[in-house]
Amino acid sequence: MSNNLQVGFVGLRRGSGLVRSLAGHPRVQVAALCDLDENALARLAGDFALADGQLFTNYDDFVNAPLDIVVIATPIEFHAAQSIAALESGKHVLCEQTAAYTLADCERLVNTVRRTGKIYMMAENYCYFHYIREWKNLIDQGKLGKIIHAEGEYMHEIVDLLIDPQTGKRHWRYPRAPIWYCAHCLGPLLTLMDDRIVKATGAHAGKNIYPNEEGLGFLDMEIGLFQTEKGSTIKILRSQVAPRHPEMIFYSLYGTQGFVENGREGGWGSTRGRLYIEGEMDKKSGAQAIDCPTVDPNPSPEMLAGGHGSSEYFMARDFIAAIDNNSRPPIDVSRAIDFTAPGICAHEAAMQGGVWVDVPRF
Ligand SMILES: NC(=O)c1ccc[n+]([C@@H]2O[C@H](COP(=O)([O-])OP(=O)(O)OC[C@H]3O[C@@H](n4cnc5c(N)ncnc54)[C@H](O)[C@@H]3O)[C@@H](O)[C@H]2O)c1
Repeated sequence: MSNNLQVGFVGLRRGSGLVRSLAGHPRVQVAALCDLDENALARLAGDFALADGQLFTNYDDFVNAPLDIVVIATPIEFHAAQSIAALESGKHVLCEQTAAYTLADCERLVNTVRRTGKIYMMAENYCYFHYIREWKNLIDQGKLGKIIHAEGEYMHEIVDLLIDPQTGKRHWRYPRAPIWYCAHCLGPLLTLMDDRIVKATGAHAGKNIYPNEEGLGFLDMEIGLFQTEKGSTIKILRSQVAPRHPEMIFYSLYGTQGFVENGREGGWGSTRGRLYIEGEMDKKSGAQAIDCPTVDPNPSPEMLAGGHGSSEYFMARDFIAAIDNNSRPPIDVSRAIDFTAPGICAHEAAMQGGVWVDVPRF
């Protein structure tokens, strides 16, 4: 009998990348797959020589299979309930971001992790981009001083994922408010700042691009403005419909002694950013250009298996290490909610005309 961890995966579109990155880990045995779509199951089953009894279209049956870990990559509306069911049945959980759509579900999730004592990690892969890991060292060394303000922009036109262009069928992202999907921005920024958000407000520009669509997903853009526990400010801009190509993820952090930012040219590869450190760099010539690669400089094939640079490889290793060491994973349930709840609160604040709301911690 092997002492490998038996891992099951649910949601096999985005989830297929997670299957491949975890499958490369020496401790992982791909032991079950679950998806409502039998074709999605069939596409992956052959790669891992899985028998019919290891393939599930029903989540309740899947979650009761003899597994150590459940990896969840279904639409966000299912994340909380599926995570809770897996934890209740004694599984560790790695769940895609964001953790939940409502504050009530965030609270239920926190309580379940506490009660069951199982390891829960949210799969916020952008925290593991190579340049974010480099910036973390820089900021932890105090090179930028205290971070007093940060900004994130995640502009990704995915209209075809909101509504099917052929059939007009509304997909699960149709009612998703842009700022609910805030973890790709907040995850890296709060990790770099070692901080959390205590107050949120928001604003949106209405629906000028798609005036006839009802879904919140079609809001042109949404801004979240946040105050942190350490007294800093953060501004996030999100859109899933604005015509900006290629898609772009942008971060900038201002400290008392300098700033760092990646480039706005977009795409998922390397961009050209800028770094300025007071005292180390000349004020006249200003910031130095820096490379901001998402991939490790010496990537092995396993590091590239999951996608998004080498981020998923390092994320998977942290998750398995937390299980092996029975320690808190870097994005434990408390951090997962820190990256999720501010977006829920910012949207609520925007709908109330821009009031400030307290962001709860459970
Ligand atoms: N971290 C990243 O970079 C990243 C990138 C893309 C998507 N995501 C996240 O991954 C998740 C899935 O996104 P996607 O783009 O693959 O969505 P998708 O709609 O393309 O695919 C979802 C898959 O889950 C299956 N599914 C839906 N409901 C199910 C259920 N109740 N039980 C079992 N299977 C079910 C569907 O059949 C489908 O195969 C979302 O949470 C999304 O936010 C993360």
